[in-house]
Amino acid sequence: MDPVTRLGVVGCGLMGSGIAEVAALHGLDVRIAETTPDAAEAGLRRLTTSLDRGVQRGKLTEEQRDQALARLSLTHDLGEMADRQFVIEAVAENRDIKSDVLRALDKAVEDPQAILATNTSSIPIVDLAVTTERPGQVIGMHFFNPVPVQQLVELIPALTTSQETLQRTRNLAQLLGKQAIQAPDRSGFVVNALLVPYLLSAVRMVESGAARPEDIDQGMELGCAHPMGPLRLLDLIGLDTAQAVAESMYEEFKEPLYAPPPLLRRMVAAGHIGRKSGRGFYPYDA
Ligand code: CAA
Repeated sequence: MDPVTRLGVVGCGLMGSGIAEVAALHGLDVRIAETTPDAAEAGLRRLTTSLDRGVQRGKLTEEQRDQALARLSLTHDLGEMADRQFVIEAVAENRDIKSDVLRALDKAVEDPQAILATNTSSIPIVDLAVTTERPGQVIGMHFFNPVPVQQLVELIPALTTSQETLQRTRNLAQLLGKQAIQAPDRSGFVVNALLVPYLLSAVRMVESGAARPEDIDQGMELGCAHPMGPLRLLDLIGLDTAQAVAESMYEEFKEPLYAPPPLLRRMVAAGHIGRKSGRGFYPYDA
């Protein structure tokens, strides 16, 4: 099995830009696909800012930053993923959008053994795998935000995923400096199955007027040593993404604890989706 040297990343939002940054820093040739020039520019800006920050904090040399940037290329055409050995899709958490991207990649990527991984947080991997002609080479590879910081990757083989695909994906995670755990192909996998009910409980606490966001967050930060409380974390993840994840989990299990509370839905409808929109449970500089 050749090690992966040519990686594709589809989507350059919060997760895609982080995955591309880490991969370029670890020496991979990374091609990023985005739909619009504006989205590509915003993603590249986020990635460059993160690398610059690494230089300012003394974690990276200017040379390492420049080499990483030189390993990145951008395209608007999934056809340009033809020579990739491994492609990770990190587009919006929506079943139809993800299926469309995977089907297009399946046609575009020439090597039939190339792997198509999805960074979905909650959509069953098998549902996405069977939309392609290579279900054996489709797998879940779930990163955590911010990708350059969080050590974990969940590897989620579907019923259709081959052992070789799982092993190659494990090898890639290692090459990217991540710790992998294997997770079941159940909506929410391991981490979100535990995290999402907790986050939704915090929203319900605000909604009912029981406690203020600041007090809830301080409670969990100072009382349980979490790096950030649940409402700040929701702002980081994006309330739109959190709602989509909760909906998938609710669809799978029909458990009330996964149902997005009305306040979450209203905030998403209002566009108050967290840091990326400048406003969520807290205000942020644009
Ligand atoms: N790139 C590289 N390094 C970064 C970074 C980035 N984008 N953002 C932060 N860092 C580094 C900083 O350089 C700093 O490192 P040092 O201490 O070694 O200098 C460290 O991370 C801490 O950063 P800051 O001091 O700027 O800020 P902080 O201490 O407030 O930490 C945080 C910020 C890393 C986000 C931290 O609060 C944290 O870990 N929060 C929890 C995040 C979390 O739970 N993520 C999982 C979300 S769930 C998910 O993603 C899955 C899903 O499906 C929804």
